[in-house]
Amino acid sequence: MRKILVTGALGQIGAELVPALSARYGADAVVASDLRMLARAPDVEAGAFEHLDCTDIPAIHNLVQRHDIGAIYHLASLLSAVAEEKPQAAWNLNMGGLYGVLESAREHHCQVFAPSSIGAFGPSTPPDLAPQVTTQRPNTIYGVTKVAGELLCDYYHSRFGVDTRGLRLPGLISHIAPPGGGTTDYAVEIFHQAARYRHYSCFLEADTRLDMMYMPDAIAGMIELMEADPNRLIDRNAFNVTAMNFTPDELAAEIRTHIPDFVIEYDDVDPARQAIALSWPRRIDDTAAREQWGWSPKFDLAHMTRDMLDKVRARGHGA
Ligand code: SER
Repeated sequence: MRKILVTGALGQIGAELVPALSARYGADAVVASDLRMLARAPDVEAGAFEHLDCTDIPAIHNLVQRHDIGAIYHLASLLSAVAEEKPQAAWNLNMGGLYGVLESAREHHCQVFAPSSIGAFGPSTPPDLAPQVTTQRPNTIYGVTKVAGELLCDYYHSRFGVDTRGLRLPGLISHIAPPGGGTTDYAVEIFHQAARYRHYSCFLEADTRLDMMYMPDAIAGMIELMEADPNRLIDRNAFNVTAMNFTPDELAAEIRTHIPDFVIEYDDVDPARQAIALSWPRRIDDTAAREQWGWSPKFDLAHMTRDMLDKVRARGHGA
C-alpha cells in the first residue's frame, strides 16, 4: 500500500487523525509532517515524522516521492482569527500550501483530502440551514482561501483527474491539541476553564449560534469520505457537515448540568472574532453528505459535553 501523508500533523486535527490513520492502516503506512518540530522523539511504535514547510513546493514533491505517498490529508493552514491578523501569511500558507499539495498529487497520482469550513460562507449566505450549493461571498481572508481552495480542488479533479475530496467543517471541539487561532475556539477553552476554575470569560456574545462537532466524529468523517465510493460523490470537495448547534449560553447550560456553580460571563467579547462569527451561517444543511456517503455523527451536545469534561478532568485540568 502506498503511504498516507498528513500535513499540519501537530495541529488540532492532525494530533487525532494521525493515530486514527495508524490504527486503521498501520503505523508504517502513515507519514506525519509539520512545520513545527516534535518536542520529543516519536515512540518506536509511531510512524515517520518529517519536518515540512508547505510553502516549500519542492520539499512537498521530495517528501511525496521519497515516501511513496498515495494519499495526502492536507491540514496545514491558518485558522480564521489568526488569518485575519496576518492576511498575507494566511494567503501564502492556505493557498500556496494547497497548490503545492495539488501539484504533487497531480504528478504522483495521490488522493487529496483538503478541509474547507463554515468560514467559506459569508454574510450573504442564507444564515439558517445554509444549503450545500449556495452564495459564497466570505468577507475574511480565511474564507477567501477556503472558497478558492474548494474551487482549486474541483479544478484539479475535473482538469487533471486528481481524486480530491473535502468537508466544510464547523467548529471542532477536542481535548488533545489546542485549536490555535479560530473563532470557534471558545467551545474548547470553556471546558478547561470550567473544569479548573468553574468560570469562563467568553470572547463571543451569549447568543452567537454556530455549528460544532466533536473531534472523533470529524476524524471518522474524513476517513469515511476518503474511502467512499467516488461514483456517489456529486459534491466531492466541500461537503457541509455538522453534528450539533449551540450558542455559548446553551453550552454553558449543558456544562452546568455537570458543574452546577459554573459561571460564564461576557464582559470581554472580542469584536474581531464576534464579527467573523456573525458573518457565518448560524446553521448549515448537511443532507448531501448524509445522502452521498452516509455521514452520521455520533456525538450530540450532551454526549460531547460529558466526554469532554471526563477527558479534561482525567488529564488533570479539573478541580
Ligand atoms: N474553527 C474554524 C475557525 O474558527 C472554522 O473553520 O477558524
